[in-house]
Amino acid sequence: MNKIEISPKEGLLTLPGFPVILVCIGNNILTVAAFSFFSFDPPMVMIGIVPNRYSFSLMKERKSKDFSVNIPSRNQLKHVKFCGSKSGRTVNKFKETGLTPQKATQITSSLIKECPVSLECEVVHTIQLENTTHVWFVGKIVKAHKREDYDRMQPMLYWPQEYRKIGEVIKE
Ligand SMILES: Cc1cc2nc3c(=O)[nH]c(=O)nc-3n(C[C@H](O)[C@H](O)[C@H](O)COP(=O)(O)O)c2cc1C
Repeated sequence: MNKIEISPKEGLLTLPGFPVILVCIGNNILTVAAFSFFSFDPPMVMIGIVPNRYSFSLMKERKSKDFSVNIPSRNQLKHVKFCGSKSGRTVNKFKETGLTPQKATQITSSLIKECPVSLECEVVHTIQLENTTHVWFVGKIVKAHKREDYDRMQPMLYWPQEYRKIGEVIKE
């Protein structure tokens, strides 16, 4: 079958989905889907934050440039939606969700106790291009924590405007 031409924006929307994570910068939580693996060795990831977010101003203000990546389970979708719609400017998201801030060992930002995976990341690089929507923070994973019963089916994918379950392993 022939391919039809679509707009660049529609092209972007054909992408399959991105892992939904809860990011802490300091003691604030925001939901992030602009999240990617960056390097295997050393292990690095990156997060894209829109500059009008409170989290962005926290990252700019804070002396320690770090963040935690917390992977929520599917059953934590209500927290994902809450942290992805309310601003830390007006609410304390730990308090409102009942999630528990946990002290990290290598960074100053909190971890989320209830998430089955937490990664402590130090910002090693920032990518900010003019006239683009997100500023990207590349973070080196300096410490990682996983619940023993963590299962890679637990996380969710997001894009565009819908959440998805992780699919089956393809057996060839
Ligand atoms: C599923 C989902 C994914 C999101 N992904 C991002 C993202 O990658 N980057 C971003 O800046 N905002 C993202 N947001 C929006 C922020 O989480 C939201 O604006 C939040 O309220 C910002 O909180 P803050 O003002 O406390 O920083 C996402 C929201 C949802 C629901």
